[in-house]
Amino acid sequence: MPAFASPTPDATPVWLVNAENWPTVKSRVGAAAAAFAERCGFEPKAGRMQCLPGEAGALHGVLFGVDESKAPARDPFGPARLATLLPEGVYRFANPPDDSDLAALGFLLGLYRYDRFKADKTPKPRLVAPDGVDAIRVQRIAEAIAYGRDLVNTPANALGPHALEQEAVKLAEHFDASVAMVRGDELVAANFPLIHAVGRAASEEPRIIDFSWGREDAPKVTVIGKGVTFDTGGLDIKPASGMELMKKDMGGAATTLTLARLIMEAGLDLRLRAVIPIVENAISAPAMRPGDVLQTRKGLTVEVGNTDAEGRLILADALALADEEAPELMLDFATLTGAARVALGPDLVPFYTDDEKLAAEIAGHSARVRDPLWRMPLWRPYDAMIEGTVGDISNSGTGVGMAGSITAALFLRRFVEKARSWAHFDVYAWNPKPRAHGPMGGEIQAARALFELLSERYPGR
Ligand code: BES
Ligand code: ZN
Ligand code: ZN
Repeated sequence: MPAFASPTPDATPVWLVNAENWPTVKSRVGAAAAAFAERCGFEPKAGRMQCLPGEAGALHGVLFGVDESKAPARDPFGPARLATLLPEGVYRFANPPDDSDLAALGFLLGLYRYDRFKADKTPKPRLVAPDGVDAIRVQRIAEAIAYGRDLVNTPANALGPHALEQEAVKLAEHFDASVAMVRGDELVAANFPLIHAVGRAASEEPRIIDFSWGREDAPKVTVIGKGVTFDTGGLDIKPASGMELMKKDMGGAATTLTLARLIMEAGLDLRLRAVIPIVENAISAPAMRPGDVLQTRKGLTVEVGNTDAEGRLILADALALADEEAPELMLDFATLTGAARVALGPDLVPFYTDDEKLAAEIAGHSARVRDPLWRMPLWRPYDAMIEGTVGDISNSGTGVGMAGSITAALFLRRFVEKARSWAHFDVYAWNPKPRAHGPMGGEIQAARALFELLSERYPGR
């Protein structure tokens, strides 16, 4: 578990340097050490690291180059790179980073490794929490993100529908939340026809997990996540290249569990409900077919234009369920479309809402904590693209190849009516390459920004 080191006078100082403060830092580390650094070719440029020798083989200090540019170009996670560069030991920042909270959080996130099936032999330097940082809060965020990343990284043979259900139940029970669930053919009787139709071809039963926590009369906040433990595409099978990463198709569920964990751990004053439809989109005789027309919880009929657009189907029933009690705020997370990546790439998450005030709050918190989210439009004229021919709406629609993330969001919107406010996040849940604050692999996006938003709206008791 990522944690800060306790403060100790023995912690090795790390100097954060750029061209501007280099002369001052030189005089503080001493002329001999500075001359040694320059002799080794050190320059005060972003990402450069230089160890400074002490007596008898000791480490006197470390120089680390940081970004000189001004916000918003400057990367406050820059110092997080140290987590993968430093040798084992205990360190402290000798001069304060730009944003101590983000530098410290980034450092803990940068230490993350997925080591369930392969031992991690990389050095694990430890950092003393910088002055002014709420170490407990930052540590909890880092732990929650590590938990979510682990879920995404776990291969589908180790995290199928049953194991994901167990993870959700374990979390809920840890915080004394009340848990309800419906599995397999019971989904039909309980009126979740879409979750059943998508998941019934898999060897592990489809299911929906629904847990609630907090003061019953507090404002209702419901979080919903797409839990497709593996997406083959169904009968409209994906090509090998498209299926490669599909263990991460439960990234929305992982995001939901991460956010729920943060909320419960912080004891925010809200009534939390988490709704997670869990399925494997598999291929066997009972699989839904292209052209099938499905009933939905809400009563609309859906025509299956493409069996690979399964996420919006299971979410439709989950959203309809959550919407029935008219929550104050409903947030859903889903690795819903490839089109979202075409539009914004892996790091930037599109979000959709008709609530202007909520959109502004989301954008503000996203920028402040560097959890990048970008608003996209619920463009009503495109509703025409998801009209069905023999069913009310189509899950793939016409105009294939165009506005795919928007039409997916418009599809979901049909199942939200009573909620006072709703936002949908089309997450990627993956780092295609290593970054300062995390290795290549599973990533949790949007949860930090929304935790900040909720902490401000519903502060803990
Ligand atoms: N899980 C995928 C979307 C996805 C693919 C997310 C790659 C991230 C990376 C989803 O179920 C899907 O396959 N969507 C289709 C929808 C289409 C058939 C209308 C897509 O985006 O191509
Ligand atoms: Zn799919
Ligand atoms: Zn999918």
